[in-house]
Parts: sequence; structure tokens; C-alpha cells
Amino acid sequence: MAGDPIIRLRDVEKSYGPASAPARVLRGVSLEVGSGEFVALMGESGSGKSTLLNIVGALDVADRGHVEVAGVRYGEAKERALARLRNVDIGFVFQAFNLIEHLTCLDNVCLPASFSRGKSPAEVQERGKEVLGRVGLADVAGRKPGTLSGGQKQRVAIARALFQRPRILLCDEPTGNLDSHTGGEVIEFFRELNERDGVTLVIVTHEQRISSAAERIVSIRDGVIEDESAGAPAAKEAAST
Ligand SMILES: Nc1ncnc2c1ncn2[C@@H]1O[C@H](COP(=O)(O)OP(=O)(O)OP(=O)(O)O)[C@@H](O)[C@H]1O
Ligand SMILES: [Mg+2]
Repeated sequence: MAGDPIIRLRDVEKSYGPASAPARVLRGVSLEVGSGEFVALMGESGSGKSTLLNIVGALDVADRGHVEVAGVRYGEAKERALARLRNVDIGFVFQAFNLIEHLTCLDNVCLPASFSRGKSPAEVQERGKEVLGRVGLADVAGRKPGTLSGGQKQRVAIARALFQRPRILLCDEPTGNLDSHTGGEVIEFFRELNERDGVTLVIVTHEQRISSAAERIVSIRDGVIEDESAGAPAAKEAAST
């Protein structure tokens, strides 16, 4: 069961382009996501999904409206609080993996450590190996991403996102570049992460399999939240007992 809202959006607006002829991408989005909830965000190409996810993750800034994540109010927060949120409380997973090719998988996974002082290099490596193990890839630690399959790359990217033990994971079409089988494994991992660790998940997706794994589906159309239908609450309840 989801807890108190960890993400709150109210009347969020975002436009791109010149002020004389703005393209209104988000036109008053209000949404609350409970702590520990698993939400699938769906909608046609260009409907504003990535824009919305980037605003929630403090990678982009809303023009108008209220955004509050994990108790941090975006309009009022100091840059330090936002940086902490981006680097510690929120993990990101993208469709294109965004791994650094000249670093080993272990070094890719350990990149977030540069944002948190206080860990020795040995502790950083240990945590890196731990999260790689968590996604079933302990054996690729010393390899470069270029030598991995798509599914392995995405799991390395997920391990990197988990390095700081985020409370919220934001994923933008995480299975978009994966074949059906590896996509299924990644979805299963997300489900486990949500159920076992209580990580709040917001996943932008076109995939029906993700939306059926989710607890709640939020649809966006032309920058407005259209309807919210329940995902699979029965399955979720059964799994949590
Ligand atoms: N940085 C930007 N500058 C100008 N226009 C942008 C920018 N980012 C997004 N847009 C426009 O905003 C609209 C919504 O884009 P967004 O990426 O949020 O859509 P999306 O729902 O994620 O689509 P897709 O499913 O194709 O990824 C699009 O028309 C896009 O062209
Ligand atoms: Mg997108």
C-alpha cells in the first residue's frame, strides 16, 4: 500500500520556444504519487512524458505551478537541496542507458559516489560491486559497456541508479531498446525493487507489460493528465501478503 505522497505536482505548466509563440507542452498537470507506489506514465509521442519526468527529477524547471518531491519544494529550495535530491534521493534510468564507454562497468556504477563525500575508495568499490551483484552482473565489473548486450547495459545503468539507495526511481522508456525477453527481466527487477525495497517507481513506457506490473497507470495527452486507471492492484496485494 502506498504511503504519504512523495511527489506532489499542482498546476504545473511548461512551454518551449519563443515567448511570442510558445509551444505549451504541459498545460496544468496535477499529480500525487505515494511513497512506495509504482506508477506507469503513458501517452503518445510528444504528449509531454519526458518533460514531466525531467521536471519531477529536477533536471528541468517548470514555468508555473507547484512541485514538491521528498519534502523539497522546488521553487523555494536552495540549489544544494536540489542537488542532493537529484544525486541521492532520486535515481534515473534512460532508454539509451547513458553509460560512459571508456569506463568499466564498475566505474560507471560508482560514478554517483563523486557526489557524496565520506566514503573511502574501497567502500565505493564495495558498494559498486554490491549493486552490480544486485542486478545479477557481478561478473561484468571489469568490462567496458561496449562489450555487453543491451539488457546487460540497462542493468548496469539500473545498478548505477541504485548506488545511492534512492527512494525514487524515474525511468524513461527503460525497455525501449531491449528485446522482449530482456525487457521482461528488467520489468521483473523493477517489480521486485518496488515490492521488496519499497522504492517509488515512475516509469514512462509504451509497454503493456510494464503498465500491467504497475499499481497505477497515469495517462497524459497533449500536456494534460487524462485519466487514471488502476493497474493491477489485485496482483499487487496478493504479492505483498
Ligand atoms: N528542450 C526542448 N526544446 C523545445 N521543445 C521541446 C524540448 N523538449 C521537448 N520539447 C517538445 O515538447 C513536446 C513534448 O516532448 P516530450 O519529450 O516531453 O514528449 P514525450 O511524451 O516524452 O514523447 P516521446 O514518447 O516521443 O518520448 C514535444 O513536442 C517536443 O518537441
Ligand atoms: Mg520521451
